[in-house]
Amino acid sequence: MASSLFPLHVIVFVLTLPSAHPLLQLSSPLPAPTCEPGHSWAVQLRWGLEQEGGSLDELANQVAREAGMESHGQIGHLNGHYLLCRVQDEEGDPRVPGEVLGAHPNVLWHSQEGILRRAKRAMTFNDPQYPSQWHLVSLRSVHGMDINVTGVWERDITGAGVTVVVVDDGVQHTLEDIQPNYCPEGSYDLNSNDPDPMPHPDTRNDNHHGTRCAGEIAAAPNNSFCAVGVAYGSRVAGIRVLDGPLTDSMEAVAFNKHYQINDVYSCSWGPDDDGRTVDGPHPLGKAALQHGVIAGRKGFGSIFVVASGNGGQYNDNCNYDGYANSIYTVTVGAVDENGRKPFYAEECASMLAVTFSSGGRHLRSIVTSDWSLQHASGCTEGHTGTSAAAPLAAGMVALMLQARPCLSWRDIQHIITYTATRYDTEADWEMNGAGFHHSHKHGFGLLNAWRLVNAAKVWESVPFLVSYQSPILKELETIPAYPNKLTLTWNVTAAALRQSGMQTLEHVSVTVTITHPRRGNLEIVLLCPSGMTSLIGARGGGHEWAVPAQ
Ligand SMILES: *[C@@H]1O[C@H](CO)[C@@H](O)[C@H](O)[C@H]1NC(C)=O
Ligand SMILES: *[C@@H]1O[C@H](CO)[C@@H](O)[C@H](O)[C@H]1NC(C)=O
Ligand SMILES: *[C@@H]1O[C@H](CO)[C@@H](O)[C@H](O)[C@H]1NC(C)=O
Repeated sequence: MASSLFPLHVIVFVLTLPSAHPLLQLSSPLPAPTCEPGHSWAVQLRWGLEQEGGSLDELANQVAREAGMESHGQIGHLNGHYLLCRVQDEEGDPRVPGEVLGAHPNVLWHSQEGILRRAKRAMTFNDPQYPSQWHLVSLRSVHGMDINVTGVWERDITGAGVTVVVVDDGVQHTLEDIQPNYCPEGSYDLNSNDPDPMPHPDTRNDNHHGTRCAGEIAAAPNNSFCAVGVAYGSRVAGIRVLDGPLTDSMEAVAFNKHYQINDVYSCSWGPDDDGRTVDGPHPLGKAALQHGVIAGRKGFGSIFVVASGNGGQYNDNCNYDGYANSIYTVTVGAVDENGRKPFYAEECASMLAVTFSSGGRHLRSIVTSDWSLQHASGCTEGHTGTSAAAPLAAGMVALMLQARPCLSWRDIQHIITYTATRYDTEADWEMNGAGFHHSHKHGFGLLNAWRLVNAAKVWESVPFLVSYQSPILKELETIPAYPNKLTLTWNVTAAALRQSGMQTLEHVSVTVTITHPRRGNLEIVLLCPSGMTSLIGARGGGHEWAVPAQ
């Protein structure tokens, strides 16, 4: 992933004028007529034959005087239209302006000015926690530290027509914030084998996770309850699969469940983040991911958004998580409200991008719906971890799919690559051969809903997926004591590339079998001709078991 190499496309951002934008900037030298509303009349004058020699301005002055008013000049560029104002110090004047004007031979039309009610088209919601949703609209001065979504909503892109499914421990779809957008046709309960993914109360009061994720995506707006989802016009389904023993076949069923209804699969879970587990989808889960991108969403491919994992404090690395390092998934990591990598966030070469979540103490967490079963209120300010980042990304993908339903699963990855923004200068940014900055901490950068949707609108689909596989490279040498490093080179010839039909390099997938007494002491680095380095097998805090790294 870190070594993408494709020709540069130019993105033209389509800028449409916001509806409250002044359409015409008046550059007229005319004085703007003003006077107090209620004391002003607009008139249209008739140029009579008797006005020979005079001007319209003079006629306006004359009409005004006759009605006990004064002329404040022509209204804008409207020829013959004048604003007349009541003279303040003639309070006891018996003349009624409306009557005088109505009877005047040179007045074609007149109207007393009133106050027009016009609201700026800014997004306001009456959901009580909306003002606390800093990840949607940051009111702090830190520039750009939100997902920049309001401009997208103002253009009526809210995820309408798109369904996001939360694969998790259930979704409380009866909740006020979930019910209006709930999609029962996309839902299923694999733990109880029935169509209803309602979470079950548990001894640890813990099965709120899926409902919180669902709220981040599609919490209903303006219902005076809790918060607002990123894609509040989308529909949200739930697949309950994490509340009980999970098998490979259950995972496979989950990944393809109702895949012509569900467009985006939001998965905020993975293997243990203990810094020693190397695991991922097993054969059926793997096959289901691949089948999903081929057959799901009418062939455009299901979008699988996965969280990179919360094992940062154990030095866990998401390349050891087979869901995160699959080419079929959008791997999303977290940054805190200051745009920094939080202590729990993992790093890896397969990180595609990051979005907001909780940080250390004193930093805010994600505000979203919550289940209302057991001791909870249906609303929380405490959703945390990369678990909270992935659903925000899934919601942003829903916005993109409303703008362009025909984007393929690979288009989505490309657009993220193009539009994510680099901001944290402390991260380990490296520029790849195609000119994109990538960091193992932040992937290609911070997701920005405005940029994603605008790019989606004009995106040209990427060519068909082709792959090119090396022969098995065997290395019989042991790693020498000095320089403590073994380098394996694979030279790809131009002829071989031509034969494969490959034009651009999108993903590199490496499978290795290495025998070593301490797995955690081993580091595997992919080095590209451009000089880009990807740490695909990190030295590990806990990766010290004598298990061959696959
Ligand atoms: C939400 O409702 C309020 C009235 O309660 C209204 O003023 C506002 O425009 C609504 N917002 C949206 C985005 O529909
Ligand atoms: C955020 O969105 C607004 C439109 O609402 C756009 O004008 C602005 O450039 C965007 N900012 C960034 C940093 O992308
Ligand atoms: C790969 O190419 C380089 C430079 O052309 C050459 O030095 C090297 O021997 C080649 N390696 C293999 C394994 O063919």
